[in-house]
Amino acid sequence: MVSPVLVAPSILSGDFTRLGEELRIIESSGADWLHLDVMDGHFVPNLTFGPAIISQLRRKSKIPFDVHLMIENPQDWLKAYREAGADRLTIHIEACRHVQRQLMLIRELGAAPGVCLNPQTPLAGLEYLLADCDHVLIMTVNPGFGGQSLLESVLPKITLLRQMIDGMRLRTLIEVDGGVDSENSQRILAAGADVLVMGSAFFRDKNKQALVSFIHGMATPRKRGKRNAGRPEKPA
Ligand code: DX5
Ligand code: ZN
Repeated sequence: MVSPVLVAPSILSGDFTRLGEELRIIESSGADWLHLDVMDGHFVPNLTFGPAIISQLRRKSKIPFDVHLMIENPQDWLKAYREAGADRLTIHIEACRHVQRQLMLIRELGAAPGVCLNPQTPLAGLEYLLADCDHVLIMTVNPGFGGQSLLESVLPKITLLRQMIDGMRLRTLIEVDGGVDSENSQRILAAGADVLVMGSAFFRDKNKQALVSFIHGMATPRKRGKRNAGRPEKPA
């Protein structure tokens, strides 16, 4: 089965003085999701925005909001980000002690749950969480900043995860974040990715529509999985 590739531009690389306009540019490019990087200055050495800004953006757009929480104690914030308008909520496995409980909470709140793994974090233990994850976000840079180079050493982890998901006959999506551009996309997709986050490469491209169409034209070969636990037929 050949599945469509999804593109999720990260507004982190946009101009924060004109976020509404950047949002419209992302929507009109034909992108699938808006990726929102929330940083707390503790889990990562940088700060971005919180629920107030996300809820203001939410009023301006219908595009699915893919919220990447790079924060300590994400369990304390899930409700606030869901109420702000997150359609997908991703928590870092390194930031949370009872990950499965939080995945259930995200599902109960009505959003699509996902976990994120930093570059050095192994897949060990993920097999026990995968059925509760609508997506797994694989970091291909150390999180905290846009504009870094892809860590090629992480690509084999994507392939191993693809095998794990296909072997378990699940539909969990593999999302890849960090240093993704039009040159390395095919390699990342060949490794097994379904969703590509793009920050700096998206915003520096003059023809964003052509960029998104180019990525959409690529394919990721994957097996048909069964329905994940509680996963809606048509996830955001
Ligand atoms: C990094 C963020 C990424 C970032 C990607 O901490 O999680 O989403 O915005 O930006 P690029 O594509 O420039 O690496
Ligand atoms: Zn991100």
